[in-house]
Amino acid sequence: MIQRLLHFLDSSPVNFLAVSNIVKELEQAGYRRLNPCEPIGEVAAGDRLFVTKNDSSVYAFEIGRKPLADVGFHIICAHCDSPTFRIKPNAEITCEGGIIKLNTEVYGGPIMSTWFDRPLTLAGRVIVRGEDALHPQTRLLHIRRPLLQISNLAIHFNRQVNDGVKLSKQKDMLPLLGILTNELECGNQLINLICEELSREQPTALTDILDFDLYLADASPACTFGLHNEFISSGRLDDLSMCHAGLEALLGSPAGDVTKVLAIFDNEETGSQTKQGAGSPFLSSMLQRLAFAQSGTVEAFYQAVERAFMVSADNAHAWHPNYSEMYDLTNHPVLGGGPVVKLNAAQKYASDASSAAVFAEICREAGVPCQQFVNHSDIAGGSTLGNILTSSLPLRGVDMGNPILAMHSCRETGSVADQLYTILAFTRFYSAS
Ligand code: CO
Repeated sequence: MIQRLLHFLDSSPVNFLAVSNIVKELEQAGYRRLNPCEPIGEVAAGDRLFVTKNDSSVYAFEIGRKPLADVGFHIICAHCDSPTFRIKPNAEITCEGGIIKLNTEVYGGPIMSTWFDRPLTLAGRVIVRGEDALHPQTRLLHIRRPLLQISNLAIHFNRQVNDGVKLSKQKDMLPLLGILTNELECGNQLINLICEELSREQPTALTDILDFDLYLADASPACTFGLHNEFISSGRLDDLSMCHAGLEALLGSPAGDVTKVLAIFDNEETGSQTKQGAGSPFLSSMLQRLAFAQSGTVEAFYQAVERAFMVSADNAHAWHPNYSEMYDLTNHPVLGGGPVVKLNAAQKYASDASSAAVFAEICREAGVPCQQFVNHSDIAGGSTLGNILTSSLPLRGVDMGNPILAMHSCRETGSVADQLYTILAFTRFYSAS
């Protein structure tokens, strides 16, 4: 299972690739793609359906034996975007000696220093001319070799570097792409490279490339480490590890009475307020359409929402042995201690005593330990999907996640045991009625 997770992490450098990989697994398991432009048609018990939005979010449904109105649905949510750097338009900057660097823009909140001095590559989607102006084609791109690096300034120019350095997003975070060998190609290196890469799969004319959403990605593979290989080292554990656990549980749990839903949202790292994010009405409309197709009444959807339960899965902070003073006195989950329920008095998390108790009971039934996280009271902490989704879709539910270190680093640290625990807990959740 951990090998499958590592493979998923390596082949999902950005949101678009993660969604494409999830879609492949769903299709292999017999899930049928819904076209949201068409009527839903008939919905029967056991149907396995999915729908995507913007190629960067995906929603899967396994219809239960009992109607949505009678038993609701069990939904697991996670997000497929991670902090990174987006390549700006007209990105090439040619410097002294023909050195080419790329102009970038920050996506989300990365720990920027962790992106220095490591092999990076490019991944995302390229928009290619289609039948007409309104219907261009989307092609995915993942260059599978070290292509770029953001290089540090030598310590000899800044002896205070180890006392902490203020970084400029605009000046410091521009990666090296290459050295110009042909003056005539000045300004076209990146687009030539994109064209060459796309043409490996399908001949593509340079003039047909219209635009792209491309991002920096770590070019080194994910791995386990530690005395007993108990740790996971990878970028994007937040939140691809939870996407993967949700998918494993969806495909691994037996069909039951209750409808299973897996929602993988985009843009959590920038606040979720997009058509493909947790703030979008898209999931809610799809659930309404499914409930109506199943029962023929508008009422069915509202009953289903009242009976439903949500697990909003986004990684939590593990206790860091070097920085114990940053954590709450009595609630500081540890790596390997099991999935973590997140609680917050200001309701930044959807969990409350009732929903936290439900999740703890599910863990107990699955035979896995469960931990709780609250912020150190003097530290603000983060936010996540749960309360954004439940402010428009009033589901009962819990915010949880696996504990990790170095959240938003280019390389985060997770635990093998926690990943397995969470898959077991999610499988139990999907099977519970
Ligand atoms: Co997250």
